[in-house]
Amino acid sequence: MQAKVLFNELLTPDHPEKDVFHIGLETEDALDYLPGDWLMVSAENSPELVELVLQKLELSGDERIELRRLGEMPVREALHYHLELTQLSPAILNKLKRQEGLDDWADRAEMMAYAEGRDIVDLLEAYPQFKGLSFCELLAPLAPRYYSIASAPKAVGDKRVDLVYRKVAFERAERERKGLVTTALSALQSGDVIDVALSKNRNFKLPHALEDALCEPAPIIMVGAGTGIAPFIGFLQEWFLEERCVQNHQAWLFFGETHRDKSHLFETTLAEWETQGLHLRTAFSRDQAHKVYVQDRLWEDRAAVWKLLSDGAFFYLCGDKNQLKVGVESVLLKILQTEGGLDEAAAEALWHDWKKSRRVQFDVY
Ligand SMILES: Cc1cc2nc3c(=O)[nH]c(=O)nc-3n(C[C@H](O)[C@H](O)[C@H](O)COP(=O)(O)OP(=O)(O)OC[C@H]3O[C@@H](n4cnc5c(N)ncnc54)[C@H](O)[C@@H]3O)c2cc1C
Ligand SMILES: NC(=O)c1ccc[n+]([C@@H]2O[C@H](COP(=O)([O-])OP(=O)(O)OC[C@H]3O[C@@H](n4cnc5c(N)ncnc54)[C@H](OP(=O)(O)O)[C@@H]3O)[C@@H](O)[C@H]2O)c1
Repeated sequence: MQAKVLFNELLTPDHPEKDVFHIGLETEDALDYLPGDWLMVSAENSPELVELVLQKLELSGDERIELRRLGEMPVREALHYHLELTQLSPAILNKLKRQEGLDDWADRAEMMAYAEGRDIVDLLEAYPQFKGLSFCELLAPLAPRYYSIASAPKAVGDKRVDLVYRKVAFERAERERKGLVTTALSALQSGDVIDVALSKNRNFKLPHALEDALCEPAPIIMVGAGTGIAPFIGFLQEWFLEERCVQNHQAWLFFGETHRDKSHLFETTLAEWETQGLHLRTAFSRDQAHKVYVQDRLWEDRAAVWKLLSDGAFFYLCGDKNQLKVGVESVLLKILQTEGGLDEAAAEALWHDWKKSRRVQFDVY
């Protein structure tokens, strides 16, 4: 499906390290989505990267290659439109291990660590023995990227969908790296058109939007760091339109970023929602000598957090799947013990039950 760009605003113009954008898109037909769903965005590889790969493989680009389900085409076309170049997946390393006898990575964890931050050109530079068309057969099909939708159709209309994305750009081994989709997104201007597709996420939904017997409004605790704020913009747009939510229940948002004056994403909107009852807690990690993270704020508010949870609150976390998730889960388990009076095993069992029944939901990446 095609979507037209309504606006593409840089939210962090003064940040030295990160460009975070808020993009608004419009489609011709109504979109059947709810806050918590994802939008998949596709892009094509840059001609410069394609030429670099061809050069490393000692190919002219005109050689023909057969791609599964797509048929035969010149390899230049395949690299440009259909094969992953900016990401090095552990799957390729695994294939190299099995097919070519490369034995440089002991297990999947080592492959993942090697792949992080590297692309296909890095691999070809490290292993110059790989040449020719046969290497291209190892490459993964070019995949769309997922983005948490940052709007609610009830608030913005069912032909509009918003995203919050961080542009991937960094230097490594004296070469500038550009994320495939975020680079393409960041170049878009109002009126431009991109390819998108919806992807439902039944595991990240407001309590009243869950598709089962639980579907009643309840208090909500949302925790998001960085672009992890995205789905909560959609949640809160919907929340403040639903009287049964606002009148009867509390909504808490714990938001973490680096600096109050450089990356307080959606500051004005959140301040407006605070006047309507949102409990907002912010953690700006780099505004003081020591790091302060969202889980530190959860701990400071542990009595209120426990009270909300024991009143049936739903708990949501969005953002980094590694450190943030580990840090937040460990503080929550501590709160269940200190405030809830549970021992470690009982706290873990309760947390597990809540995850199973979707009282606790994650959108982490
Ligand atoms: C369920 C889900 C929801 C998501 N929601 C969002 C969202 O709302 N907003 C959002 O911005 N992203 C979101 N993402 C991440 C998004 O899908 C992309 O992975 C991300 O935008 C990068 O895509 P890209 O094509 O620009 O970069 P790619 O071309 O895929 O390149 C990414 C690669 O670059 C490397 N890399 C990236 N940054 C660095 C760095 N700083 N240092 C070293 N190496 C680096 C990594 O190895 C990574 O594999 C989500 C992901 C998932 C799975
Ligand atoms: N692979 C990719 O292509 C790619 C590219 C960019 C982002 N991402 C992922 O996208 C997600 C969001 O990234 P983002 O750049 O918007 O935000 P982010 O890097 O997650 O940073 C947001 C805030 O979280 C803080 N933070 C760091 N470590 C933390 C921890 N252990 N516990 C709690 N908070 C912590 C950061 O603080 P400090 O930074 O000051 O420590 C910052 O204040 C993450 O999953 C990130 O890894 C992936």
